[in-house]
Amino acid sequence: MAHSLSINRHLPKEELYIELLPQLEALVGGESDLIANMANISAALKQTFGFFWVGFYVVRGENLVLAPFQGTIACARIKYGKGVCGTAWKERRIILVPDVDLFPGHIACDSASRSEIVIPIFDGDNVVAVLDVDSDQLDSFDDVDATYLNQITSLLVL
Ligand code: SME
Repeated sequence: MAHSLSINRHLPKEELYIELLPQLEALVGGESDLIANMANISAALKQTFGFFWVGFYVVRGENLVLAPFQGTIACARIKYGKGVCGTAWKERRIILVPDVDLFPGHIACDSASRSEIVIPIFDGDNVVAVLDVDSDQLDSFDDVDATYLNQITSLLVL
């Protein structure tokens, strides 16, 4: 497996995801370790899109606990139902937040974060982790991100 991505960063967003997906599939498909795969997915998303913060939280009892990520240091634990991440876990759905200041209970790990998307990751019927992506610009995420980020998380074997 190649240890570099081949991405033309000048492409529009959806085409970037389309270029990235098969490369991530090959990268993740060649490795069985969940932490290694979360780490490489975080790095690939950061490298491709330049996201302000991108990474995973994993379910540990009543908390989400920080897992591989790229970006500034972050809250280590988020309780069930709290913040955007805990809400995505509780409500078992993707949450798009165009303006974090308008999301009640948003947890500001870094005050530079302005918009956010959180994708719950399921093992069977249970949410076992979330993928969290933050932008330092308002309204950075839409259904294209939701669709492709969801496909990317489905590459993980839990
Ligand atoms: N903003 C998130 C917390 C995690 S950090 O953004 C990395 C939330 O409200 O759940």
